[in-house]
Amino acid sequence: MDPNNPNRETRSTPQYGLYQRENFWKSNNGETVPFNTDPAKLEALAKDHLSENGRLYASSNAGLSHTHTANRQAFYRHRIIPRMLVDTNTRDTSTTIFGHTVSAPIGFAPIGINKIYHPLGELPVAKVAGELGLPYCLSTAGSQPIEDVAKANGDGLRFFQLYMPHDDELTRSLLHRAFDGGFKACILTLDTWQLAWRHDDVATSNYAFYHGIGADLGLSDPVFKKRLREKGIDPAKQPNEAGALWIDNVWHGRAHTWEKVQWVMGVWREISGGLPFCLKGIQSVEDAKKSVEIGCEGIVVSNHAGRQVDGAIASLDALEQIVDAVGNKTYIMFDSGVRGGSDVFKALALGAKFVFVGRLWVWGLSIMGETGVRHVMKSLLAEFDILMNVAGFQNIDQINRKTLDSFEKNYQLLPVKSAL
Ligand code: GLV
Repeated sequence: MDPNNPNRETRSTPQYGLYQRENFWKSNNGETVPFNTDPAKLEALAKDHLSENGRLYASSNAGLSHTHTANRQAFYRHRIIPRMLVDTNTRDTSTTIFGHTVSAPIGFAPIGINKIYHPLGELPVAKVAGELGLPYCLSTAGSQPIEDVAKANGDGLRFFQLYMPHDDELTRSLLHRAFDGGFKACILTLDTWQLAWRHDDVATSNYAFYHGIGADLGLSDPVFKKRLREKGIDPAKQPNEAGALWIDNVWHGRAHTWEKVQWVMGVWREISGGLPFCLKGIQSVEDAKKSVEIGCEGIVVSNHAGRQVDGAIASLDALEQIVDAVGNKTYIMFDSGVRGGSDVFKALALGAKFVFVGRLWVWGLSIMGETGVRHVMKSLLAEFDILMNVAGFQNIDQINRKTLDSFEKNYQLLPVKSAL
């Protein structure tokens, strides 16, 4: 790409695509590109950098990984139809999310316990998100205090993903902290009251919190500290017990109800003065309609990247049906199985307004910490920007179903444990 391109000054969103040139040029300066961002190679490299536990947890899926396989296969069913001779010189990759304008329709999905991928955990991730101007979502299972993550994220746009305890005082405390920390929406995850059966993790006792790692978000909470005192647990001396008490509040295995969801939506609105409240983990049209009915501001169509219900519908297929049913009634976001710019494009084309990515940045974090997250996300942004350029799209609004050639569902069982 010509760095003196005169259109450069007239674009309203960053020239993400120039990151390609920067990397092409590196060897002239005796520098090397941090690593290959091809998802399969990225995953393989991350595995070399991780402990056995980190490696297993990053790649674990529910059961036989069939939902993960379906997630990936669904993307192949849709093919982009490129247009030529479109003036994409001043293309605009921006979009809006809950009234905030962001330069790309891409955000950081909430992923817990980042300390098993890097000693600094969520901090470098939140920092890079803030720097790139992409929304960052902190998980309740995060392994750094909410306040520290907020600080690392600076002026960035951030959301708090809630795993709702059955301890209402604790829930309130977490939401207060999130609001005080400048988190601009609450996203309640519905699909993970407990972790699914994940063979490798079970076989290796791979549950970090039970081994004294990653409970920092809880250990820094005043209500949770009170609970520890009530139970006579000293986290300094009994880190396993403290971690267990925390995570057993989060992934407690006890179901919630729609009534309880309405309660917590009210609590968040009361605390935050009416900031958006969304539901994550919606896969059925019925649940999407119910979400609209109870009045939440948005939904994340997600199957937890295939980590929860094995043998389930592909999240991208669910997206299509849900958009048909409630696309004009609520703000629809998407995650699960996104591995590149074309996947982001396809989810937008099927009606998502915003797309979250998870494993890609987890792998980057595992390989090179902050530098790794930055490289992965800048590469994804560049790939998406370049895709819009070469496929002839001037802005996000032009990405719709007519831009796809979609095949019938016809899935075969392929061994797709990895990124494909
Ligand atoms: C938690 O969110 C997990 O998928 O492990």
